[in-house]
Amino acid sequence: QRIAVLNGPNLNLLGERQPEVYGHETLDDVRALCRRGADAAGLELDFRQSNHEGELVDAIQELRHSTVGLVVNAAAYTHTSVAIRDALAVVTAPVIEVHISNVHRREAFRGHSYLSDVVDGVIVGCGTQGYELAIARLVRLAADRAA
Ligand code: DQA
Repeated sequence: QRIAVLNGPNLNLLGERQPEVYGHETLDDVRALCRRGADAAGLELDFRQSNHEGELVDAIQELRHSTVGLVVNAAAYTHTSVAIRDALAVVTAPVIEVHISNVHRREAFRGHSYLSDVVDGVIVGCGTQGYELAIARLVRLAADRAA
């Protein structure tokens, strides 16, 4: 059984990119954090990043039946992408949307997400710990389903 984490555009530059907003950890650090969470739950981890909307749609389609749950930080596409929204709406496993920064304390355009009302939960403004929290939530939901 595996858990998937999908990261959108510019998150490959984490650590270098606006550290005052996103912190100093790199995407590899986030991957390691997610790996620890998955390992602790006895799950495999599928961790991906893409700068391309269609690639993210392809990944969501590919993963739609094969994961215990999906963590998605669609980055800027959160605020623009009906295509990613429509793809997520097809996923049967639970999906948690994550944003490292508190999008509600930033520019107004970041306050709207095309994804939030088609996912199961949203974690915002908790830094990279949000990924850890999202994985913990997916593990709990999977345990509840198994019970
Ligand atoms: C982000 C917030 C988005 O508004 C932004 O475009 C990102 C990262 C976050 O994790 O805080 O690229 O999703």
